[in-house]
Amino acid sequence: SPPPVVEIDGRSYSTDTWFNTPTNVLAAASRRLHLQEDHPIAITRQIIESRFPSAEFRSVNSLHPVVTTFQNFDSLGFPPDHPGRARSDTYYVNKDTLLRTHTSAHELETFRANASPGFLLSADVYRRDEVDRTHYPVFHQMEGARVWDRRTQADEKGDLTATILRDLAALPEHGVAVEDPNPPFHDGTNPRQVPQHAASEVEAMGRHLKRSLELMVVEVFSRAKKAKQLAVAAVGTEAETVAADEPLRMRWVEAFFPFTSPSWELEVLYEGDWLEVLGCGITKQPILDAAGVPSQMAWAFGIGLDRIAMLLFKITDIRLFWSTDERFLSQFRGVSADLDKLRLFVPFSKYPACYKDVSFWLDGGDGVAGTVHNNDVMEVIRSVAGDTVEDVQLTDTFTHPKTGRQSLCYRINYRSLEKTLTNAVTNRLHSDVKDMLVRRLGVEIR
Ligand code: PHE
Repeated sequence: SPPPVVEIDGRSYSTDTWFNTPTNVLAAASRRLHLQEDHPIAITRQIIESRFPSAEFRSVNSLHPVVTTFQNFDSLGFPPDHPGRARSDTYYVNKDTLLRTHTSAHELETFRANASPGFLLSADVYRRDEVDRTHYPVFHQMEGARVWDRRTQADEKGDLTATILRDLAALPEHGVAVEDPNPPFHDGTNPRQVPQHAASEVEAMGRHLKRSLELMVVEVFSRAKKAKQLAVAAVGTEAETVAADEPLRMRWVEAFFPFTSPSWELEVLYEGDWLEVLGCGITKQPILDAAGVPSQMAWAFGIGLDRIAMLLFKITDIRLFWSTDERFLSQFRGVSADLDKLRLFVPFSKYPACYKDVSFWLDGGDGVAGTVHNNDVMEVIRSVAGDTVEDVQLTDTFTHPKTGRQSLCYRINYRSLEKTLTNAVTNRLHSDVKDMLVRRLGVEIR
C-alpha cells in the first residue's frame, strides 16, 4: 500500500488510492535537467529560446511539477472521459493531484499573470509509457505563447489584423522550403473560433505563428547540421558528407488539441522520415476569458526537448540524459555559455546486451481471468531494474486452447550505460522483476 505522505521536490502531499508514482519517478522530480548548465536538455532549451526575442517572450522555467487535475486537464477543455486522464497513462499523487503530463498545464495561470506579449515556459513532464531507447517516464517540454490585446492594439473597428501583420512583417525570412497545403482554417475539420476571431485575424495569427516556429526549427536543425558536418569533416566518408548536406524540408499538417483551434503540427524531414517536432494552434478563447484577459488573443505551441536534444547531439539512448557519468557530462562543458561550441556526442563503448524473457499467466492461477496494462508491466520492470533496463518488448501473447488461460511473454534487454553486467547481477535483477510482477500485478510466472 502507498505511503500516506510523499515528498516531491521539497513539498509534501497526502496520497490516496489513486497514488501510482514509483520512487524512481518521484526522485527525478528534483533533477531539473532543463536548468542544469551545460546539460544537453538545457542547451537545447537555450537554442530554442535564442530564436525568440527576449523582450517579447518572458522565460518561466522553475514551476513545480505537481499540478491539479484542473490545471492539467479541465482548464484546457479536456473532456471528462479523455484517455490522458487514465491512471494507466498518468502519474497521480491522489485523485485531484498529479505530475503534469505537459507544460500546457500552466497556460491558464501564465495568461492570468499577464503574459503579454509572450512567454516561453520549460519544465519536466511525466507520462507512463513504453520502456525503450526513446521513452523515459520523465521528459521535458517547452510551451510558448504570443498574445495581442484588443484593448490596446486593435484598430478603430476593434480588429487586430493590421497589428499582427505589422508584427509578421518584422520577422526575418528563412529561405527554407515549407509545404503547407491546407487553407489557414477549415470550418469543418480545423475551425476558427466564431464569433470571437475574424477570418483575417486568424489568418494573420496563423502566419505569424508558423513563421516564428519555422525560424526556430531552422535554427535548431542548422545547428544540428553544423555539428554533423564538423564530425564528418573530422573522420567521415564522402557518402556521409553528402548526407550531412541534405537540405532542410518542413511541412505543416492539421492537428487537434482540446485547447487550440485551428491546430497544426510541424514536421521535419530527418534522415528520410517525416518527424513531428511540435504541436501548436490558436488558443481557445475560453482559456483567456477564464484567465481574466478576454480582450487578448493568442497562439501557443508545445515542443518536446528530449527528442530534439537526441538528434542535435546524436544521443541514441534517452537514459543518458539522467546519467551523472563524467564521460557523458564532460562532453558538453562550456556549451551553455557559447552555443557555437556544440559538438556531436561521442558514444562511449557499448556494454553487452543481455536479453531475458519472462512469461506469465494473467489469471494468477486462481482461474479468474485477469488483465494487466502494458504500462504497468513496463513500470514494474523499470522500478526494479532502474536505468539498467534498455528496452522491453511484448514478444508473444498466448491463449491456451483447452483451458482458455492467457499468457504474455516479454523480452527484457538489460544493458547498463556504465558497466558490463555480470550474469549474477542480471539473474538477480530478473528474478526480482519476476517476484515484483507477481506481487504487484497478481500474475503467475510460467
Ligand atoms: N501540450 C501539447 C502536447 O503535449 C502540445 C501543444 C501545446 C499543442 C500548445 C498546442 C499548443 O502534445
